[in-house]
Amino acid sequence: MKLSIENLYKTFSGFVALDRINMEVGETEFVCLLGPSGCGKTTLLRIIAGLLDFDGGAMSLGDRDLVEIAARDRGFGLVFQSYSLFPNMTVKENVGYGLKVQKVDKKERGERVEKLLELIKLPDLTDRYPHQLSGGQQQRVAIARALAVEPCLLLLDEPLSALDARVRAEMRYEIREMQQRLGIPTIMVTHDQEEALTMADKIICMKDGRIEQIGTPRELYAEPATRFVADFVGVSNIFSTAWVRENLPKKMGSRPEGRENSFDFAIRPEQLVIDGRKDGADIKNMQFLGNLSRITLNWHGQDVVVELQGYPQFKVGSSVAVIVPDDCGRWVKA
Ligand SMILES: Nc1ncnc2c1ncn2[C@@H]1O[C@H](COP(=O)(O)OP(=O)(O)OP(=O)(O)O)[C@@H](O)[C@H]1O
Ligand SMILES: [Mg+2]
Repeated sequence: MKLSIENLYKTFSGFVALDRINMEVGETEFVCLLGPSGCGKTTLLRIIAGLLDFDGGAMSLGDRDLVEIAARDRGFGLVFQSYSLFPNMTVKENVGYGLKVQKVDKKERGERVEKLLELIKLPDLTDRYPHQLSGGQQQRVAIARALAVEPCLLLLDEPLSALDARVRAEMRYEIREMQQRLGIPTIMVTHDQEEALTMADKIICMKDGRIEQIGTPRELYAEPATRFVADFVGVSNIFSTAWVRENLPKKMGSRPEGRENSFDFAIRPEQLVIDGRKDGADIKNMQFLGNLSRITLNWHGQDVVVELQGYPQFKVGSSVAVIVPDDCGRWVKA
């Protein structure tokens, strides 16, 4: 069933936490809510879950008005921002909890729990308590518990934020694979753009309680609509109109009409090229990241980041030329 949200509005004693949110989640879609801390992601998720009231707008699931369905009757699976397992219950009891509440008989419960533990790859830890598990294992159990009741919508609030980089990358893949296999529509909150880019069918990028842009990962990366998205999703060099007019006059031809400061020009670091035989830009800093190097230069008074494959033989302090290929860069709303 499709989830639709129209003009959702939420305030906390006068502070506007969500400002006219419009979004949809398709039947088998994996949607990421992406945005910086405090932009309203958890608030939105809690409203969808029915754990928080809102001031205006509408929400529906299929042809039913969500407001008419109590939180516990919505049939949603929830995983919260911090670990939220029942500390006094074993893994098996945690995962089976929802089924017990639903009065599923003991034998069937046992079988379903076993299947879920296989799904999350923890079949051997059934009798452990949460404090005997690593962070990654706890989050897996939390996900299994949410899946146990066969939810019609899965809501995940930063389920991977407490994990180290390696486990996080592994879990990304596992959650996505599981979601696709089960075909459960999912909304996952994250402030990690890489997580959103690798996992989502659709990203909803938020800022200050508003939606900045909705699109596929490719669209948000290749066609950011605003300066905020260009900067938040991946890394961008952002140039003012005045700077472009002065230093990249050819690019002015594609600039949309509008006031001097209403648009900026964004260029991805990997789109730029460095020519070591010429000069004009001074290398301030070089970071070696293994597969690529990130070079910061001062170019006509502006810091510019360029990413090159491998380990280039440039020296900090030397002068090189920055080449801007014809088809690269994009005007974005400032
Ligand atoms: N119960 C509340 N009372 C007052 N203000 C609140 C309440 N809950 C959230 N807020 C405010 O609403 C805004 C959005 O909070 P929210 O928790 O949705 O952010 P978030 O995007 O999930 O951030 P994070 O990435 O840090 O978890 C914040 O400014 C927060 O201080
Ligand atoms: Mg949050």
